[in-house]
Amino acid sequence: MRLQPTGKFDNSAKAYDHIAVAPLAAAMGARIDGVDLSALTDAQFDEIADALYRHKMIYFRDQQISHADQEAFTRRFGDFGTDAYTKGLADHPNIQPVVKEAETKTKMIFGEGWHTDSPFLARPPAISMLYGVDIPPYGGDTIWANTELAYDYLSDTMKTMLAPLKVHMSAIAVIGMIDRTNRETGAPAPEANAEAGPQQTKIGGMAIDIERQSMIEGSYHPLVRTHPVTGRKALYVEATYSQGIEGLTEEEAKPLLEFLAAHITQASFTCRLHWKANSFVVWDNRSCLHHAFNDYDGHRREMYRTTVEGEAPV
Ligand code: SIN
Repeated sequence: MRLQPTGKFDNSAKAYDHIAVAPLAAAMGARIDGVDLSALTDAQFDEIADALYRHKMIYFRDQQISHADQEAFTRRFGDFGTDAYTKGLADHPNIQPVVKEAETKTKMIFGEGWHTDSPFLARPPAISMLYGVDIPPYGGDTIWANTELAYDYLSDTMKTMLAPLKVHMSAIAVIGMIDRTNRETGAPAPEANAEAGPQQTKIGGMAIDIERQSMIEGSYHPLVRTHPVTGRKALYVEATYSQGIEGLTEEEAKPLLEFLAAHITQASFTCRLHWKANSFVVWDNRSCLHHAFNDYDGHRREMYRTTVEGEAPV
């Protein structure tokens, strides 16, 4: 079902006492004003967390923050999460640079393709954050899709059918794409020593570490997951990592996964952000998907990423 805007969405802002909130789109997303992330009060943080769970993705403009500030803000939500790809900075191992240089031309950048972060892990990151430092003059946007709204708009019969299902989340397609891209560009591929353990490779010119074997084995998670804070249900399916459904044949699972991935990412359920230098974005991987665009060749993009450890999805 492709929706036209329905007037039934409610991404309106609540009236808060310590922050100001302006919705970004009808489906999701909001800008938070009136805070300095390097000097946050507890009362502001509580309202920011509430706004995140309501809007799924929130962003702040004009934040002058250090790596230590980003770490401190991230830790307010919980422990640092595991990121399956990116390497941390030597002096801030939980801050992961995500950089594409102006001269890099690549078929695949980090974060491209609709996905939720590292769902092949047993405990995927709950929340991800990106701080934009160097931003292309155009392009390099990020787009998100609201997986709670997408679940709400399924028929009751479809919801009943999906309720007991477990989705197989595996990085097999991404690793295949990384290997193919690196072969084509002559970058050293890690395939020769493809046993267990981290292997260095590249994605979009960026050095990454991957645990090939465990990322391909992946995890089985509920296809409909319940948010641990709000109790709301969301689809946990996407086109990048969802490779099968427990108990279904490939032929049975494929059309269902394709339908759900397309249903979630229809324009009506999304919001899109054009970055500016010093924008800071936070999203909840349990209630949205996201996708980065590879459309700014000739311009540099430099971001710093942190994640918050998640729970095993239920
Ligand atoms: C990501 O998937 O975490 C990266 C998103 C982006 O670079 O816009």
